[in-house]
Amino acid sequence: MLNILYRRRSIRRYRDTEVEPEKIDQLVQAALLSPSSRGLRHLEFMVLDDRKVLAQLAPAKQGAEHLKGSAAAIVILADPAVSDVWVEDASIAATIIHLTAESLGLGSCWIQIRERKHSEAETAEQYVQKALGIPSHLRVETIISLGYPSENKQPHTYNDLDFNKVHRNQYGEKYLFSRE
Ligand SMILES: Cc1cc2nc3c(=O)[nH]c(=O)nc-3n(C[C@H](O)[C@H](O)[C@H](O)COP(=O)(O)O)c2cc1C
Repeated sequence: MLNILYRRRSIRRYRDTEVEPEKIDQLVQAALLSPSSRGLRHLEFMVLDDRKVLAQLAPAKQGAEHLKGSAAAIVILADPAVSDVWVEDASIAATIIHLTAESLGLGSCWIQIRERKHSEAETAEQYVQKALGIPSHLRVETIISLGYPSENKQPHTYNDLDFNKVHRNQYGEKYLFSRE
């Protein structure tokens, strides 16, 4: 697991190659296996594998441009009437999809939709809801773009880790890593 976490980077450039349906199936299983508050498992997911639909979503907001060029994406939907902690549930599912993609040799990137604007008049969520026919009671937390990487990013390293952010028993007490 730590190897996956060190290797995982946000990948925004993808090869033209399609993602095998079996790999998409595995990502869907990963999404549905995500833990959720009170075990409600109420999240819904949309698999996008039509490049025309993906390109249509690229102008949703700044930072979504790479949807044009991605081979697939998964949209994460939640109903706030069902769970007051839907943001946490949706974020966990997104993270699990992101890490599973890495484990399958796929590149992926989190595209934040909730709380982002498409324009002065329209939120990114409204734009995505309209483009995909999503019922208005469902909120869109994020879209995870997917594809085989066409950019090479260095993995994170042990030296990147800031152990000063970690406390032990009392706030301000240093956590001494066992390797030191
Ligand atoms: C909550 C969240 C929102 C993000 N939103 C976007 C986004 O809208 N567009 C994008 O290209 N990257 C987005 N990212 C990816 C971050 O920019 C990226 O994780 C960060 O720069 C660190 O790089 P790394 O993922 O390669 O380690 C988001 C990441 C998180 C966790």
